[in-house]
Amino acid sequence: MPSSAPKTKTNFVTIFDDTYNQPDCRSYYRMLRALGYSNHTHAVPVYRAVLAELARVRGLSTPQVFDFASSYGIVSALMKHQVSADAFLDRYASAAFDDTSSEAMHQIDAEWLSGLARNPIEARYKGLDVASHAVGFAQDVGLFDQCFAEDIQAKPPSPELSECLAHTDLIVECGSVAHLMPIALDRLLSAASRKPWLVTSPVRGNERAEAFDVMRQHGLVVDTLGLPPFPHRRFESPDEQARAIAIARAAGHETDGFETTGSFFAQIYIARPKDESTPVSDWPINPTHGLER
Ligand SMILES: C[S@@+](CC[C@H](N)C(=O)[O-])C[C@H]1O[C@@H](n2cnc3c(N)ncnc32)[C@H](O)[C@@H]1O
Repeated sequence: MPSSAPKTKTNFVTIFDDTYNQPDCRSYYRMLRALGYSNHTHAVPVYRAVLAELARVRGLSTPQVFDFASSYGIVSALMKHQVSADAFLDRYASAAFDDTSSEAMHQIDAEWLSGLARNPIEARYKGLDVASHAVGFAQDVGLFDQCFAEDIQAKPPSPELSECLAHTDLIVECGSVAHLMPIALDRLLSAASRKPWLVTSPVRGNERAEAFDVMRQHGLVVDTLGLPPFPHRRFESPDEQARAIAIARAAGHETDGFETTGSFFAQIYIARPKDESTPVSDWPINPTHGLER
């Protein structure tokens, strides 16, 4: 991780939060597709590999996965089902859904997801987001067994959420929130009865020294597994690119050949207890799959 990871919060990635809490997922997924969002394409295959290794190391038949800042549950959907990120987003771009009501969208998605082939590891997924409609949608369509609309950066988790976190094996997060909210991260990890593994894919420059400190204070070893950075999404404007390059450089990243090519770049970080930090060469699934640029 960059030694000069920024100490203060900088919201330099434009936030499109009017799509974050709609009655269904369409506008959010259409927005991701229009922006050329590719974080999930690269990160989720690694998350699947992490889940397989965690299940092997702990001998778990049904790992408990917690999707933090989950939005409508795309990370869980891609971990659970045999569908690519591109195919997933393409589905929602269809004009056939333009006049579909939200109620109908819930039902259509529930049916579609239940018919999709599953990935081999039968995990249970729970999700949390401040956006109550988004997590509610994900639960309604069958992605989450349980969902929480809480802001644990602002206040401690409810008893129900604490109970869920106590039994979590893996926390997954795409979108930098775990790095930008170290108090929330501390609360997630404090509630665990056995320390979970955590895997995140923050945009370069959004990773925070405080977040890495929190992981270490909870006895976790943080690692990139030697995985290369990957494109997160295209820049919207030359200004956005210039800001991103300056911030990524200030955080200690080499930007030539990365942000200079026209996209934000992201990096996988995995945090695990030291005695479970197995070498990647032993993993049942090769985590580099999906990280081709
Ligand atoms: C960039 S989106 C990423 C969503 C999803 N993980 C994905 O990969 O598409 C960031 C998400 O963080 C959520 N968020 C913002 N502040 C939060 C908080 N304090 N606690 C939990 N979620 C939060 C937003 O509602 C939004 O759904």
